[in-house]
Amino acid sequence: MNSWATWGQDLHLDLSERRARGLGLRAALEDALREAAAGASLAPGTRLPSSRVLAADLGIARNTVAEAYAQLAAEGWLTSRQGSGTTVADRAVRRGGSAPAPRSPDAALRYDLRAGRPDLDLFPHAEWLAATRRALASAPRDALGYSDPRGRIELRQALADYLGRVRGVRTDPERLLLTSGYAQGLSLLSAELHARDGSARGGRPLAVEAYGLAPHRAVITAAGPATVPLPVDEDGARTDLLARSGAGAVLLTPAHQFPTGALLHPARRAAAVDWARETGGLVIEDDYDGEFRYDRQAVGAMQALDPERVVYAGSASKSLAPGLRLGWLALPVALVEPMRARKAAADGQSGVLEQLALAELIRSGGYDRQVRRARLHYRRRRDRVAALLAERAPEVRVTGISAGLHAVLRLPDGLPGGLPAEEVLVERAYRRGLGLEALDSFRHPLTAPDGPDALPPSLVIGFGTPPDRAFGRGLEVLGGLLGGE
Ligand SMILES: Cc1ncc(COP(=O)(O)O)c(C=O)c1O
Repeated sequence: MNSWATWGQDLHLDLSERRARGLGLRAALEDALREAAAGASLAPGTRLPSSRVLAADLGIARNTVAEAYAQLAAEGWLTSRQGSGTTVADRAVRRGGSAPAPRSPDAALRYDLRAGRPDLDLFPHAEWLAATRRALASAPRDALGYSDPRGRIELRQALADYLGRVRGVRTDPERLLLTSGYAQGLSLLSAELHARDGSARGGRPLAVEAYGLAPHRAVITAAGPATVPLPVDEDGARTDLLARSGAGAVLLTPAHQFPTGALLHPARRAAAVDWARETGGLVIEDDYDGEFRYDRQAVGAMQALDPERVVYAGSASKSLAPGLRLGWLALPVALVEPMRARKAAADGQSGVLEQLALAELIRSGGYDRQVRRARLHYRRRRDRVAALLAERAPEVRVTGISAGLHAVLRLPDGLPGGLPAEEVLVERAYRRGLGLEALDSFRHPLTAPDGPDALPPSLVIGFGTPPDRAFGRGLEVLGGLLGGE
């Protein structure tokens, strides 16, 4: 007896195991089909093979299959229609099927002004397709096999050139590691730091900015180290306080602090590098949107101050799309081999097709064009946000807007009849279909909400995400909300 049915798709129906449990042939088939229809292996609407074909595939009598189909149709798992064969029923009509999942609150957001997401309409579909085609046509035969865990040399070479030219990063292809997004790079680095510190002894914590992404803090702690907050002000993270943090490494967003938008002051950059040199510590530079500076020439990467003490981390999530999961680390020499081994142990290597396509896009100049196009687009949006706020809510101070895809709106305090607290505004915004976040939601749990390191009540507005058609309307709703309507 066979256990594979093949009719355009493969389906594993394990009858022998059920037979071994004492089920008759028809009962075994019914049970296997029921399980497949109830779980993920047969999606609603899937057309099943005819009873003749399935019987032949499984090496059993056609009647047995026809009877099993009839039984499952009677139970509501399958739908049989004259002329259109047998299909898997919709989950809603299945007897005993689960209720539809509750709608996530995000589904109700008509205008998404949350930070950290790019406008996906900007993705250069035609250029990406053309780059993929060219990359595949010229790729050596072994490109589709297992390759160096650090990633394809084509992309490491293209990135080393690009990052040197555009961000002033001092690296070479041998020191680049391609990861599944920045998130994986952060995870592997955190695990390596923890192991070096003696994880059995608890290890030293990793210092992070007191305001930052909770998911990234979760990536770090899942890999081992605890995190400690470093206060943040208008000059970026207080790296002058690193010495007393007890940390063995620090994660910074120097070009555009996430989420306050501050540019790390040159003295603070120097302080972080000095600290790393004196203590054998490491700085991780998250350059997530370093290409999107509007007020002047982009500020070069901090990594150039000391490539043996600063790991540079970049990602295609803002410049192209987060779904590509393309990230890169420019590593100090001493970390190359251990990190290559960690990447190999984590997942072997990242997928090569995207790597080859991005290499081709960078080499052909398409990536530079895309970055320029995106920068212009976001700059226009930023100007619209600034103009709207100046007109509708002049008492709101806008900061962090000279770079990146988001801004921070400092709410005025003490205004008679003024604006309510940030959480109330966020809640009101959600009720109007507008997604935005309170600055407080990015606060590290060890930074007290009413302590000296807490930042004043503010909203964080992302202007990257909505498609053009929703952006203008979203701004209107925001204007109304801040104007007290
Ligand atoms: C602060 C920050 N760092 C890094 C990233 C990139 O992360 P990833 O490459 O894992 O998508 C993002 C999101 O785009 C971000 O907001």
